Amino acid sequence: MIGASRGIGHEFVRQYRAAGWQVTATARDPAGLEALKAMGATALALDVADMEHASRLAWQLDGAALDVVVHAAGVLLRTPGMEPPTDEQFDATMHANVLGPMRVLPQLADALAPGATLAVLSSRMGSIGGRSSSSSWLYRASKAAVNSVLKDLSLAWAGKAICVAFHPGWVQTAMGGPGADLTPERSVSDMRGVIARLTAADNGRFLNHDGSPIDW
Ligand SMILES: NC(=O)c1ccc[n+]([C@@H]2O[C@H](COP(=O)([O-])OP(=O)(O)OC[C@H]3O[C@@H](n4cnc5c(N)ncnc54)[C@H](OP(=O)(O)O)[C@@H]3O)[C@@H](O)[C@H]2O)c1
Repeated sequence: MIGASRGIGHEFVRQYRAAGWQVTATARDPAGLEALKAMGATALALDVADMEHASRLAWQLDGAALDVVVHAAGVLLRTPGMEPPTDEQFDATMHANVLGPMRVLPQLADALAPGATLAVLSSRMGSIGGRSSSSSWLYRASKAAVNSVLKDLSLAWAGKAICVAFHPGWVQTAMGGPGADLTPERSVSDMRGVIARLTAADNGRFLNHDGSPIDW
């Protein structure tokens, strides 16, 4: 579980642990790492935007055989209208949401169990085919880009892993806000159910939390 200090990633850890799974999960700060340990997970320090952190992941996971990998880490910086992002906003968003997965996920190649599932938490806001709003265009661009990253991994790892991009729904987290549609419990329980039912035919798909397809 990559990015599990809070929000949807944290809920994935809680539910998989409650189901008796062994879980390895990452957080950036000591408090997040302690919380993960208290849940019975193996906790690893990882800032996905930090090249050194990403590059030590492969040896930290040496010998592992991961059945499910979920990349949850992400940021949403709201940018008004069609205002160009500042360099800082652009870099912070693209480093966490795009460069992070491009650095971290290849490190996991040798740590996957045969037929493993890789799920990247993208967003419907990254869909180009299904788009009907232009709000937060920087975030949208980052999620469209990570969709491309996931699609490439699905081709590179075909036969080795089933790779999907998920829209988790609009979820009540710090990012989604209290007025969102879904609790983290419901979103994650839906996605766990979908993950359990995935077959090789699903490799490279963009799915809603309930398993219905979303246009790229
Ligand atoms: N909530 C929604 O409605 C919604 C909708 C669509 C898609 N999503 C996507 O779902 C994912 C999880 O969202 P959420 O709602 O759980 O968000 P959240 O509550 O804001 O949590 C974000 C998580 O990502 C971690 N993170 C951020 N930048 C990181 C970095 N550079 N390295 C490592 N970890 C990092 C955070 O860690 P720290 O605690 O260290 O900051 C935190 O654990 C995101 O990718 C988001 O884009 C969410």
